[in-house]
Amino acid sequence: MKKISEAPFVKEMCAVTANMYRLGWDERNGGNISLLLDENEVAEYLDPDNVIRTIPTGFNAKELIGKSFIVTGTGKYFKNVETDPENNLGIIRIAKDGTTAELLWGYSDGGKFTSELPAHLMSHISRLSVDPQNRVIIHSHPTNTLAMNYVHELDERKFTHTLWEMCTECIVVFPDGIGILPWMLCGTNSIGEATAQKMKEFRLVVWGMHGIYGAGKNLDEAFGLIETVEKAAQIFMLTAHLPRVNTIKDEELKELAEFFGVKYRKDFLDL
Ligand code: 13P
Ligand code: ZN
Repeated sequence: MKKISEAPFVKEMCAVTANMYRLGWDERNGGNISLLLDENEVAEYLDPDNVIRTIPTGFNAKELIGKSFIVTGTGKYFKNVETDPENNLGIIRIAKDGTTAELLWGYSDGGKFTSELPAHLMSHISRLSVDPQNRVIIHSHPTNTLAMNYVHELDERKFTHTLWEMCTECIVVFPDGIGILPWMLCGTNSIGEATAQKMKEFRLVVWGMHGIYGAGKNLDEAFGLIETVEKAAQIFMLTAHLPRVNTIKDEELKELAEFFGVKYRKDFLDL
C-alpha cells in the first residue's frame, strides 16, 4: 500500500487550499472543496474495506452510491490543510443506503465533512448528468466577487454581461455565464437543491452576499473559473465609481465567442 500523504489528490488539495488562502478568498474556515476520486486510484493507498466510522449526510445521494470523494472538513481552515491534511481533509464513500458517508481516511480529530456537503454532492449529481468528466466542486468567498454582490444587481444576465465586459477572455472562459441565487441560509439541503438546479445550466453559481461555486473536470479548471470571475470583479470594483470611457462592445463579445468556437449565452448579449 502506498503512502496516502504522497497521493496526488491529497497533494493537489493541499496546494489548492493553500493557494486560495493566500489569495484571501478563504478566511478562517470559509470555503470548501470536494473532488470525486477514482476508486482504483484510492485502492492504491487505502483498504476499501476499512471504514473508520460512518457519518449520516442528512440527504439521499443515491446517484453517487459507491463513489468516493476527498472533502474539506467543516470548521477547518484552508490555511492549515497543507501542514495537517489528515485532520483537515477526509475521504468519504457514499454507502449503499445513499444517506451515509463511510469515512476511509481523515477528519482525524473526530470531525466531519463540510456543512455544505448537500450543495457539493447535489451539484456533483447535476454536473455529472451534463458532463460525465466533472469531478470537482469548489466553494469560496473571493473578495471582489463578494463586494460586487453589494453594488451590482443580482440578475444572472446583467451580472454575467458586466463581467464579460471587464476582461477580453471572460466570455471565452465562462461562455455559459453565471447562475445566481438570492441570499439563502447556508449549510442546508434547500440551498444545496437550489445550487444543484442552477448547476444543470451553469458551471458557476453565485450565492448572493456569500460567495461562489465553481465546477470542473479537475481542480485547475474549477479554480480557474472562479479566478477569472474574481479578476473581472476586481476590474469592476476598481472602475465602478469612475466614468466609463471605453468598453468591449456586444458585437466584439460575439466576435470573440465565435472566433474561439465557444457555445455562449446569446441571450445574455444585446444584439
Ligand atoms: P464549512 O467550514 O462547514 O466548510 O463552512 C464554510 C463555509 O464557507 C460555509 O458556507
Ligand atoms: Zn461559504
